[in-house]
Amino acid sequence: MEDSVLIITGNTHLSGRLWLMKLRAPHLVERIRGGHFVMLEVSKTYDPMGRRAFAVGDVRGEELLIFYDVVGRGTELMSRMKEGERVRVFAPLGKRLFEYEGDKHLLIGGGVGLAGLSLYGKELRNMGKKVVFVYGARSAEHLGMSDWLKEEGFDFILFTDDGSAGRKGLVTEVLKDFGTDWKVSACGPKPMLKALKNLSQETGHEVFLSLEERMACGWGVCLGCVVRDPEGNYRRVCYEGPVFNAREVVF
Ligand SMILES: Cc1cc2nc3c(=O)[nH]c(=O)nc-3n(C[C@H](O)[C@H](O)[C@H](O)COP(=O)(O)OP(=O)(O)OC[C@H]3O[C@@H](n4cnc5c(N)ncnc54)[C@H](O)[C@@H]3O)c2cc1C
Ligand code: FES
Repeated sequence: MEDSVLIITGNTHLSGRLWLMKLRAPHLVERIRGGHFVMLEVSKTYDPMGRRAFAVGDVRGEELLIFYDVVGRGTELMSRMKEGERVRVFAPLGKRLFEYEGDKHLLIGGGVGLAGLSLYGKELRNMGKKVVFVYGARSAEHLGMSDWLKEEGFDFILFTDDGSAGRKGLVTEVLKDFGTDWKVSACGPKPMLKALKNLSQETGHEVFLSLEERMACGWGVCLGCVVRDPEGNYRRVCYEGPVFNAREVVF
């Protein structure tokens, strides 16, 4: 991992609250794997303090693609950054990444959580594995990464809470439609991951979760991102994760 100053090569609104930032990073692209994340400096002042964590959603040529939802002060400032500006980025972060065993992979993303799986999906496909994405959100306008899935030619199933696109209901329901020969990986809001973990105990699927706890340092020193394992020990998501077998964490 290293701290670099990267040039913004694009920063555009996609849909709903979703934006896409492109960063030129020729020295990093070879080292980035699916599941890696970056800590990006959203402000040069103390308003707000600290960097913000983002998954690397894709790597295209010399560029890193960051798909981000504008949810607060930091991401609001990020959305105002312009092409040609420079931004400080600490990357690549995350030690334990996804696993590549198995021939069939179901990747379940809740909202912008899909960005935590997208690059991994490309890696699996390049290895000749079968990949199906499942992408859920509140409503159609919050499915802004659907265009990425189409552009990349992936098979995908959409879910919305209100039925405005794809199937009406929760992404977790899809688990019952796929046999246990499918490896499941997921990223998204905690209630979704919790539901998936519970359901997998009934269905018998092996499930890996990429966790997105709030982070301050991103490399293991502040203990701000800990979760508990079943024995009650603390695990740092940024350092021992961000990917865990669902059996290894309790919510
Ligand atoms: C490893 C990792 C990868 C991530 N990848 C992405 C990504 O690819 N795209 C993306 O849009 N976001 C991602 N996030 C979440 C992102 O870091 C936060 O949305 C961001 O820090 C919000 O900053 P802010 O200053 O705009 O909001 P703040 O003002 O800090 O917070 C706004 C609201 O969002 C909530 N919030 C902030 N961070 C989180 C979080 N991590 N989990 C749940 N709620 C939170 C706060 O409680 C508050 O209600 C990731 C987080 C982690 C830890
Ligand atoms: S964010 Fe500091 S230890 Fe994980």
